[in-house]
Amino acid sequence: MSTHVSRADAGRGVELDARSVTVRAHAKINLALRVGAPRPDGYHPLTSVFEAVDLTEDVTATERADGSVTCEVLADSPRGADLDAGPANLLVRAAHATREAARERGTLPDGAPGVHLAVRKHVPVAGGLAGGSADAAAALLACDALWGARLPRATLHELARGLGADVPFALEGGVALGVDRGDRLTPVTLGAGVRHHWVLAMSAVGLSTPAVFARFDEEYAEEVGAQPAGAEDLLAALARPGGPTSAVDLAPLLVNDLTDPALDLRPDLADTFAAFERAGALAVLLCGSGPTVAALCLDAPHAASVADVVREAQVAADVLTVCGPVPGARRVET
Ligand code: C5P
Repeated sequence: MSTHVSRADAGRGVELDARSVTVRAHAKINLALRVGAPRPDGYHPLTSVFEAVDLTEDVTATERADGSVTCEVLADSPRGADLDAGPANLLVRAAHATREAARERGTLPDGAPGVHLAVRKHVPVAGGLAGGSADAAAALLACDALWGARLPRATLHELARGLGADVPFALEGGVALGVDRGDRLTPVTLGAGVRHHWVLAMSAVGLSTPAVFARFDEEYAEEVGAQPAGAEDLLAALARPGGPTSAVDLAPLLVNDLTDPALDLRPDLADTFAAFERAGALAVLLCGSGPTVAALCLDAPHAASVADVVREAQVAADVLTVCGPVPGARRVET
């Protein structure tokens, strides 16, 4: 058990010698995001092929003797310092969900354990990269370990699904097919050592996921069936028995049905797409519901040069290179 309490934590009444656990989770890109017509509950059936990329969220859970659940974004976080720390926050909800499940299983001692969750964010808020889902997945594991709750993996997955459609994938990482709300996962095994090189162009202003789906319903849902399109070609290419499919062959198989609705709400993103195309990216892809735009590149030097060109074009607030796939949420030493 490591001991790590930031100065910011100390100001909130966390014991300086309190026990703490840090869990790291990652952002995701959707290699395919196919959307069906909305269901009666408002959710959309999805065919989603996720890839976890090496943009991290580190959540440190520190025990609180008073039983309360609090959270903060550490002030030195590269992104997303303006998180609402209220009860609707996914970190807080994840902690409560873990505590309730552990109580039901009888694996928590009497007396309410509390927790302070401090997140160091690299993933922008409302960026389409599932940063909030990564935080929730990390918080589930961190609280489970901190409190010694020993919840089974299947229980953690159920809790994850209750917190949001992208949270189960943040637990699992790698590459996976998600169906239903995108939260029923089947892992996709890539060849050993396969690495995809991406450039991400991030926007200064986030985009609301419900707003993008609402725009999809208004303008595009009539053209789609009750079930979303599949991703068979992409899945076959990713798992090709003869060896990994090259980035060049993968590029035409990447697809996101939320691109047009997101561009309707944010026409400026067309400039980012155009800049990536001019820079010679193999494929340009909206991340989730946006506004982050991802470009697939050949290798690390190609990604670095595409990133330079797009930075120069000044179409995005932040341009960086990332790689995938990477593992799901797991404990790290601090
Ligand atoms: O599950 P989560 O809270 O992350 O979803 C955020 C929003 O995205 C939902 O409120 C819904 O508007 C939309 N959504 C959807 N269909 C999905 C997943 C998300 O309509 N399968």
